[in-house]
Amino acid sequence: MSYTFNRQYPATRLRRLRYNDNVRAMIREVELHPKHFIAPVFVLEGDNQRETISSMPGVERLSIDLLINYAKELLAEGVTTIDIFPVIDNALKTPDGKAAYDEDGLTARAVKAVKDAVPEMVVMTDVALDPYTSHGQDGLLDDSGYVINDATIEVLVKQALVHARAGADIISPSDMMDGRIKAMRDAFEAEGFVNTAIMAYSAKYASAYYGPFRDAVGSAGNLKGGHKKQYQMDFGNRAEALHEVAMDINEGADMVMIKPGQPYLDLIREVKDTFGIPTFAYQVSGEYAMHMAAIQNGWLSDAVILESLIGFRRAGADGILTYFALEAARQLNNA
Ligand code: PBG
Repeated sequence: MSYTFNRQYPATRLRRLRYNDNVRAMIREVELHPKHFIAPVFVLEGDNQRETISSMPGVERLSIDLLINYAKELLAEGVTTIDIFPVIDNALKTPDGKAAYDEDGLTARAVKAVKDAVPEMVVMTDVALDPYTSHGQDGLLDDSGYVINDATIEVLVKQALVHARAGADIISPSDMMDGRIKAMRDAFEAEGFVNTAIMAYSAKYASAYYGPFRDAVGSAGNLKGGHKKQYQMDFGNRAEALHEVAMDINEGADMVMIKPGQPYLDLIREVKDTFGIPTFAYQVSGEYAMHMAAIQNGWLSDAVILESLIGFRRAGADGILTYFALEAARQLNNA
């Protein structure tokens, strides 16, 4: 792109094209649409169960029957993808997280139920062991508390296959083990799941913004060691994110994700420009909590929701995982 500066004020008045709504709309460069949102959802056991999450006002854990209603509401507003996160009973959590690959586990049942009741909904699942491990880490531990990469991958592959067999459209590994994308892709191809897509959490940082999510899935109190820095990225690093993305693409990822969102907009732009692959941002639980806290206090208007989301699109994201999905879609549809 090049700029010419031969035309100067008063001939050039940029305000001319800000004159009214229709003129502004005509020249708007980036659009935000409900189809750009992926709604993360927290699913519980039981019937007709809903629980609030104190650090995420407006977000609820829902039993499968209520999740189906929620999926229908999302679809009616044009949000076509959900990402399922299970809330697992503490009694089922073990050091090896084996409930993660139970064919009849909560995630598998939730995927089947949503695909049966709302077949148009694109269903995505999260692959990582933290909802299932008694220590709250995303993988298996050795005696020193180190998360073992290759042994963890074997379990993650079993978990991913359970999700694929249940009918998930997109599998989204959030664990950050090295080599897991290739292992999952190979396993899917071998079982005939040639069209089960993988959205890799490629550049996932060891972030303090995940706190409310860990409350939501009930892993916060369990988290042995208190952090995941052995496998999630150091937030001082930029080039390493490109390296992670390149590896995941080579291993077979169909789409990549940058997470968290707003403090990492630079990477969304850089990944999109470098690789051109479908690139997603996760506006994580802590970002949601910050916005909601300010909105509920009257310190910010709820117009910040769409402003925060279009920022991801402007940075180059194709879509955004956001807890604001339903509310933002309503705002867009009612505008
Ligand atoms: C678990 C996982 C996390 C999130 C998505 N998948 C938390 C973590 O890594 O501890 C974070 C989502 C959010 O904060 O909204 N592997």
